Formats: sequence, structure tokens, C-alpha cells
Amino acid sequence: CERISSRSQMEGFHPGKAADMVVADRLALESKVAAIRAAGPAKLQVIADFDATLTKYWVDGRRGHSSHGLLQQDNPEFDAKRQALYEYYHPLEFSPTIPIEEKTKLMEEWWGKSHALLIEGGLSYDAIKKSVANSAVAFREGVAELLEFLEEKNVPVLIFSAGLADIIEEVLRQKLHKSFKNVKIISNRMVFNDGKLVAFKGKTIHVLNKNEHALDVAAPLHDKLGDVDGTIDDTDSVKKRTNVLLLGDHIGDLGMSDGLNYDTRVSVGFLNDNIEKSLESYGKAFDIVYLNDSPMYGVVKLVNELC
Ligand code: TMP
Repeated sequence: CERISSRSQMEGFHPGKAADMVVADRLALESKVAAIRAAGPAKLQVIADFDATLTKYWVDGRRGHSSHGLLQQDNPEFDAKRQALYEYYHPLEFSPTIPIEEKTKLMEEWWGKSHALLIEGGLSYDAIKKSVANSAVAFREGVAELLEFLEEKNVPVLIFSAGLADIIEEVLRQKLHKSFKNVKIISNRMVFNDGKLVAFKGKTIHVLNKNEHALDVAAPLHDKLGDVDGTIDDTDSVKKRTNVLLLGDHIGDLGMSDGLNYDTRVSVGFLNDNIEKSLESYGKAFDIVYLNDSPMYGVVKLVNELC
């Protein structure tokens, strides 16, 4: 990481096409970028949401699948049961009138029932592979370059999701054809026995506790990246990484870095829907907002500036 030595170098930083990118406070962004760059890549970690952040919102003209949404159990009866749950609970997830405590209970109920159906229906790892192969999931262009660059710089990437860790990993394997030793998935993780799903590990992560739970899981990560399930062999202490690049598609995703006690955070928001209605709030909440299902190239440029 070279230090920013002059303002003219910063002026060369254009994280994307102006039409698709909004920066409400360029001076604040420039000073955060300069601070992170001065501290170097050993101080940096990336925290990213998965669905509609690393992946595209639209795929071949339709909504891209989420990790839950793509799953087909090879058991039509159970797929239909999970679809019925989706039709009941998904409107409740977005209802503006349900109080948060009640909604949290409803989400716990949904995740609990859905996970139970996956176990009862005997989900196999082969069905996961097949589902991912047939899915409408695509990474934003530039995600592979982003992860490769961060791997080269030994910068850890923590992916937080209320979806399914095993599916996210399979999507990474099938769509990027590579595994990244710096990438750690913090999501609902399955336990298989003889190729069949028998349980889920740990506390359920749903949409309303994703960020709160992130703190619980992030605690062991402070000691040693890779201690949680041994999938990462990078033993760098994340505790020392006091600078954060955060990527999300909901304002609530900003909570993913709560509790990390960071010095400097650059936040990037992907505003995929309701652009006119949400642009002002996204512009205030995130340092950079990308619109219209933008590729990840602006973030690739940004990390080149940060490191
Ligand atoms: P996330 O992937 O943005 O973290 O959120 C998970 C989404 O998954 C959330 O919008 C609800 C959805 N979901 C399903 O589509 N099917 C399910 O069975 C469950 C439990 C959640």
C-alpha cells in the first residue's frame, strides 16, 4: 500500500460511471480512503452481504435467486411446503405495520419451519449442487477480480447472510470456479450425515438478527480467522484490522460492522429497487451508492485505492 502523497492522486479516484454512482460527501469519502490507504492492507477487512450485493438483483430479466430461493429438494412435496411458507411469511417480512418484536418471532418461526422441512425432506448435498447449477444466480461482474485482489493482499472478506452458508459456498465454487482462502461465510450452516442434511449448526441467523448475530460470531473471529469452522487457513488476527470496507444492499446492512470498533469505515450501498424513493436515505447512509444493478468494477477500483 502506497501512501496518498498528494491531493491530485485522490482526484484520480472515480469509483464508477457518474450516472450509476452517487457520493453525497466526496470530501468525507476522500479523507476516509486516504486514512485507510495510509494504514495499509494489514489493517483492512471487508464485510459484505451476499444476496443482491455480491450477486445481481436481475438475472436474465428476472429477479435473481437468493440462497434459500434457489433450493430444490428433489422432493416436490417439500418444495411446495417451503413455497407455501414463503408466500405466507415473505409479505410479513416487509410489512411496515408489524412491531419489531412480533416480526422477529415470525421470522424465527419461518426460518425454524423452513429448516425443519429441509431436514424432514432429506435434503442431499447432490440436490444443492444441482439446484445451484440450475439457479438464476449470478455474481456482479468484477466480483471475481475483487476477491482475487483482496486475496493477493491478504485482506479477509467476511460474508454475512441470513441465507444458507453451504449454498453460498457452492455458488462461489460453481460460478467463480475457485475457492478463496480469505473468504469466510457467516450464515446458517448445515450438518450432513451420509450425504443427507441432519441438522443446522448453532443459532439460526434470520433477517432480523443477522447483524446482532454477526457480533456474536465476529467475537471468535477477533482471535483467529478460521477458528469458527476451520475453513480459512489465514491466521491473521482480525482484531488488528481496524479499518472496514462494508458492502450491502439494505441500510440495515450497515449494522454488520457494529461491535467491530473500527477506526475508519467506507460503506458502499447497492440500491437495486425503488431508486427514486430510497436514493436520499441511501445517499445519507452510505459513502458510495451504486444504482441500476451496477457491476462491482467501481469497488475493484476503490480497493485499489484503499490498498
Ligand atoms: P438475505 O439472503 O438477504 O440475508 O435474506 C434471506 C432471505 O431469504 C429473506 O428475504 C427471506 C428469504 N427466505 C426464503 O426465500 N425462503 C426461506 O425458506 C427462508 C427461511 C427465507
